[in-house]
Amino acid sequence: MSNPSLLILPGDGIGPEVMAEVRKVIDWFGRARGIRLDVSEDLVGGAAWDAHGTPLTDATMARAQAADAVLLGAVGGPKYDDLDFSVKPERGLLRLRKEMDLYANLRPAQCFEALADFSSLKRDVVAGLDIMIVRELTSGVYFGEPRGIVTENNERVGINTQRYTESEIARVARSAFELARRRQGRLCSMEKANVMESGVLWRQVVQELGEAEYPDVELSHMYADAGAMQLTRWPKQFDVIVTDNLFGDLLSDLAAMLTGSLGMLPSASLGAPMANGRPKAMYEPVHGSAPDIAGQGKANPIACILSFAMALRYSFDLGAEADRLEAAVNAVLASGLRTADLMGPEGGTPVGTAEMGDAILAELDKST
Ligand code: IPM
Ligand code: MG
Repeated sequence: MSNPSLLILPGDGIGPEVMAEVRKVIDWFGRARGIRLDVSEDLVGGAAWDAHGTPLTDATMARAQAADAVLLGAVGGPKYDDLDFSVKPERGLLRLRKEMDLYANLRPAQCFEALADFSSLKRDVVAGLDIMIVRELTSGVYFGEPRGIVTENNERVGINTQRYTESEIARVARSAFELARRRQGRLCSMEKANVMESGVLWRQVVQELGEAEYPDVELSHMYADAGAMQLTRWPKQFDVIVTDNLFGDLLSDLAAMLTGSLGMLPSASLGAPMANGRPKAMYEPVHGSAPDIAGQGKANPIACILSFAMALRYSFDLGAEADRLEAAVNAVLASGLRTADLMGPEGGTPVGTAEMGDAILAELDKST
């Protein structure tokens, strides 16, 4: 049998430098654990625009469709701000999500013990925090038609459409219920059913599915604005949260910051099962391309490394190896090493991107 395939798309900004650390981790698993992956690399975002005049070529799209998993760094940067909307770096990412039909975006917000004091909230509010936001990723206002900027009565009008079908709501809710079942058994669904019809339908469909198929999962509903408030007040009340594309975008940034740093958090975007039974999948750090620090060797590679851990768990069925990698990251943080984004009042040993990667490899060495 051939090895499982992984397509790496480093992208823009800090993407390439954090991905270089992931490649070291992948090599380590090959060397020390006999885990062989067919790794290939391609361009996305501004990097693809520079080379090919499009943020994602059809050839790259086809390679992503064929891969067992895709690992993406980050896209975008000020250099591309003036490009037409249709070819902006972000369109490459959105095309991957849409055409691979990656409808369930898993964004864990976990507070690493060593970083609990680094959060902008008090230690007892965040210590031990472990929540999972499931964001719908292929529909809603991000993709709804009609959209555009038109002229009406001599003025410009910007239009986007929030639109959800029943089946789109049900499939992402199902992913969230399944996750809740394997965690603490609690699911909170967030929408704005008080103002939006799409929210009314969202609430109904989630409620019906819960009653019919997941009576063992404790289901609650919250308006998304109240959800934002509750997330900052007492985040530990949540286990799994399921919400739409736009609310999920906002709430996941909020949840990420509770944990101390966006530079720590991975994500998985999953679609329907492939022939091998594993879901179609793309993994990416939650952080962006951070153009202000790109190319300086300062970026935190942990979110991207933990995204690879999620790939080990969800795409390659190697949960124990994912645990090993996550434990190595924890150990390095506990030892006090800090990239610039993690330098808080309590200090620590400042390190750069490559040193952080090497420290994680050293911990992995100890684990065998
Ligand atoms: C995210 C990002 C993207 C989004 C951008 C880069 C298109 O903010 O993944 O959260 O809005 O979905
Ligand atoms: Mg976002």
